Amino acid sequence: MTKIFYKIADIQAYLLQFSYKQVGFVPTMGALHAGHESLILASKKQNDLTICSIYVNPTQFNNPEDLKKYPRTLPEDIEKLEKIACDIIFIPSNEEMYPKNPSLTFNFGNLESVMEGKFRQGHFNGVATVVSKLFHIIKPNRTYFGQKDLQQTQIISLLIKDLSFGIELVCCPTLREKDGLAMSSRNLRLNPQHRNIAPRIYQAMLLAQELVFSQKDINFAKKQAIDFLSQEINFVLDYFEIVDCQTLGEINEQTEEIAICVAAFLGGVRLIDNLLIKR
Ligand code: PAJ
Repeated sequence: MTKIFYKIADIQAYLLQFSYKQVGFVPTMGALHAGHESLILASKKQNDLTICSIYVNPTQFNNPEDLKKYPRTLPEDIEKLEKIACDIIFIPSNEEMYPKNPSLTFNFGNLESVMEGKFRQGHFNGVATVVSKLFHIIKPNRTYFGQKDLQQTQIISLLIKDLSFGIELVCCPTLREKDGLAMSSRNLRLNPQHRNIAPRIYQAMLLAQELVFSQKDINFAKKQAIDFLSQEINFVLDYFEIVDCQTLGEINEQTEEIAICVAAFLGGVRLIDNLLIKR
């Protein structure tokens, strides 16, 4: 039976009895889809107890309109989590998570000055704040994040190391729709016309991947992919980058894995995606 908690004190009291068990934790903002479910299923395989949090965290939204429009489907989310037998759902309120505005701020250096960090000022500070709070509340052994949000996953990895959380971070592959579009809660906001052309993001990344393989010229690959996306006037590109997967900076001799990363608006909906290439 799935248990639901709304209060920090209640979930912590309940978790006391499991102190000797392996706990897996999947933080989410709800509007759950198969991508989220894959993280929960991965946690269920590796742990005695799996906890999913659903909380639309206001401090990570740099755009108030985006926060307002973020899809909220709580009854369906609970149903989905019960169906896959997630053990615990934690659904805190804003008052519970932020009894006061946090004064502490994070600085992740280069990792946060590029791509998402550059285009969404303060975003990763909000993510790191809420994830740190959730880690402290739940004290999991393992936590599950998606490669879909590559930069976020790298930042959480640094957060865990720098603050000695002692939590194992498991990065799970991106789940896609049949036409290649990465599953995302934001896809719910695409109109049918935009939903039809959205897979071009994936196609542009595949084109770049092919050109990186065949021509080995990063700038050429990047330009061709951007040209491909620009043929469709509905896309407003934030960035298309081909970078070192670890540092998210320039590719050099030490680069073991290359990341192709995209963020684009489609009818006011911001979509992000990435592909990794082993060298
Ligand atoms: P949210 O966007 O709900 O995503 C929760 C987790 O699901 C993230 O780790 C994300 O990378 C993963 N995910 C999203 N789409 C996926 C897909 N198609 N395949 C696999 N995994 C996918 O990311 C957040 O929430 C928030 O920033 C959060 C970490 C909860 C902090 O508020």
